[in-house]
Amino acid sequence: MAWSPDKTEVKSWNEWDTLRHVIVGRADDCHIPPEEPALDAKVPEDSDMRGQWGRRPQETIDRANELLDNFADQLRKRDIKVDRPVSIDHAQPVTTPDFHTDSQFGCMPPRDVLLTVGREMLEATMSYRCRWFEYLNYRPLLKQYWEEDPRFRHEAAPKPRLTDADYHPDYLSEKIGDAKRLEWAAEKFFVTTEEEPLFDAADVLRFGKDLVVQHGFTTNLKGIEWLRRHFPDHRVHTVNFPGDPYPIHIDATFTPLRPGLIVNNPQRRLPEDQREMFNKNGWDIVDAAQPAHNTPPPLCYSSTWLSMNVLVLDPKTVCVEKSEVYQAEQMDKLGMEVVEVELRDAYAFGGGLHCCTADVYRDGDCEDYFP
Ligand code: NVA
Repeated sequence: MAWSPDKTEVKSWNEWDTLRHVIVGRADDCHIPPEEPALDAKVPEDSDMRGQWGRRPQETIDRANELLDNFADQLRKRDIKVDRPVSIDHAQPVTTPDFHTDSQFGCMPPRDVLLTVGREMLEATMSYRCRWFEYLNYRPLLKQYWEEDPRFRHEAAPKPRLTDADYHPDYLSEKIGDAKRLEWAAEKFFVTTEEEPLFDAADVLRFGKDLVVQHGFTTNLKGIEWLRRHFPDHRVHTVNFPGDPYPIHIDATFTPLRPGLIVNNPQRRLPEDQREMFNKNGWDIVDAAQPAHNTPPPLCYSSTWLSMNVLVLDPKTVCVEKSEVYQAEQMDKLGMEVVEVELRDAYAFGGGLHCCTADVYRDGDCEDYFP
């Protein structure tokens, strides 16, 4: 049966089929969290974020919300249904029997927390203490989907304990330097240990029957094994991008646009020995265009490669951030219609166009693209 806006239905098997219903994050009450092991390891040593934390300035929250609201309206004008999270109070500290953090993070990048696979939405374990309760921002929506769609499966991965045993202390020394970080990334020595399963949803890309998962700072091998056991009808593939000294979240590194085509960050190329499934099935992996900016915006965790953090609306249409002119030009050459979206002033709140959304419904079924 065709999708109808009058009926809630959760279903999305991949990153590119026609998008009908989506969650767009909010910048409300977003905090720069206090220091903690996994977060510190991600913040580049020369970043303006080092050593400061607290609620983000209200004018930056307002500006980011303006852009996110406009993006939601742009999607609605294309007949895509848009839901928004309900912000909890992120100033609240979190204490569990195992850890304490003085504040939380926000509800801007739903993609980090929610993994939609078919008719299921799975709350990720997360790997930062400040993001342990982030799923609460989305609970009103997931509760509503569960009540309205009898086939919807609301799942939550086991909450991790996040004791100090989850983090390698080597990563916590002040100045490690990018050369050392790259060496460690190549050896697959990351800040997180194998103490317990850890994954962020944004380390996972969905290709129908296949899930491609980045092993890095925010997802460990046990997390990937947990996903493998949780989705027994899927093939779960582990990938690494050794050119990335801060490997978190796959969506500024590897971006599928449609069946057979992926853009890959040229500084973080997928190693040859991990390309077999794509090569064998005739997929093209092309270098992404250069970002239009030399530096990220102020107080931003992410790299300039948010240029390739695009949202595919259907196999011929893609949302690209308005200032990312080289990425837009490349998309055009690759045969995609480009929808320009202004979002750069919201990047600091947790990412770009892919990050700030989570799929609720895309057309299409679970296909095998790698037989
Ligand atoms: N690893 C990423 C996160 C972006 C979603 C980066 O390039 O900063």
